[in-house]
Amino acid sequence: MSFRRTVAFAATLAFGAAAAAQGTAPAPAATAAAPAAAETAAAPVKPGDAAAGQGKAAVCGACHGLDGNSADAQYPKLAGQNEQYIVRQLNNFKSSARQNPIMLGMASPLSEQDMHDLGAYFASKSPLPGVADDKLVKAGEKLYRQGDAARGIPACMACHGPDGRGNPGAAYPQLAGQWADYVQRTLKAWHDGTAWGSDDHAQIMPTIAKRLTDADIAAVSTYVEGLHAAEGAAPATAAAR
Ligand code: HEC
Ligand code: HEC
Repeated sequence: MSFRRTVAFAATLAFGAAAAAQGTAPAPAATAAAPAAAETAAAPVKPGDAAAGQGKAAVCGACHGLDGNSADAQYPKLAGQNEQYIVRQLNNFKSSARQNPIMLGMASPLSEQDMHDLGAYFASKSPLPGVADDKLVKAGEKLYRQGDAARGIPACMACHGPDGRGNPGAAYPQLAGQWADYVQRTLKAWHDGTAWGSDDHAQIMPTIAKRLTDADIAAVSTYVEGLHAAEGAAPATAAAR
């Protein structure tokens, strides 16, 4: 499955062999991001350095946890999240394509290299699995693994992986272990018309979330919180504890 890369995403890859191989060039229509892209071209960004990222992540720890396992569900877990997705979101916050006043402030001073180092650091950590609600987990599992063809809902695992680890190459995020409250809030926002920018990549989730009911969202959110990356598809449930 391939989606046309757009400016924010192309900018994050502009330094890399992947972009070169695909001949990706920022579209002329998207010159808003040209200064950033030009800087990137002038000083090639190196792949993220987790050791350098650790120092830069001290400030993030207050909310996201020092190892990316936040203690509070209002802050998404970053532990184990892939570098590409983290870089994309930090660029999204910085450009306000994804609107959040706190993260706008946090992302604004970061260079492209900082974003990669931070991404590499958090990617090197392991997410602590949460616990799924026993009453909802079956419905959530069905949606996650099979989708609902009759309603045009694809299986979540097609992109986020059977074990919820995501797909780094495509910047599809890890969902395994993520706080259900955060997942629910994010899916609801997409359902209600929010989008993280206007590129094709950013249209994927709003399109899917519009087809989800509140019950679907509650079920799939608790399912992913209990999903253990290490144990494949078997989620922990409250009952199992
Ligand atoms: C004061 C609290 C706070 C601090 C400090 C903070 N963040 Fe965040 N971060 C948030 C909140 C709140 C969200 C959720 C935003 C939303 O709902 O869209 C978030 C979301 C994110 C996301 C998106 C995660 C996802 O799963 O989509 C990334 C990436 C991120 N932060 C990285 C960082 C980095 C890197 C730092 C340090 C440079 C940092 N944050 C510092 C509060 C914080
Ligand atoms: C065609 C691929 C695809 C499918 C299928 C898909 N997703 Fe996604 N998902 C994405 C992409 C791409 C993003 C990142 C969006 C962005 O960067 O704007 C994402 C992001 C998310 C996030 C935000 C994660 C975070 O850390 O903030 C959640 C939650 C999510 N998807 C849930 C689901 C659920 C639930 C399903 C099934 C009903 C699903 N996705 C199906 C591609 C997909």
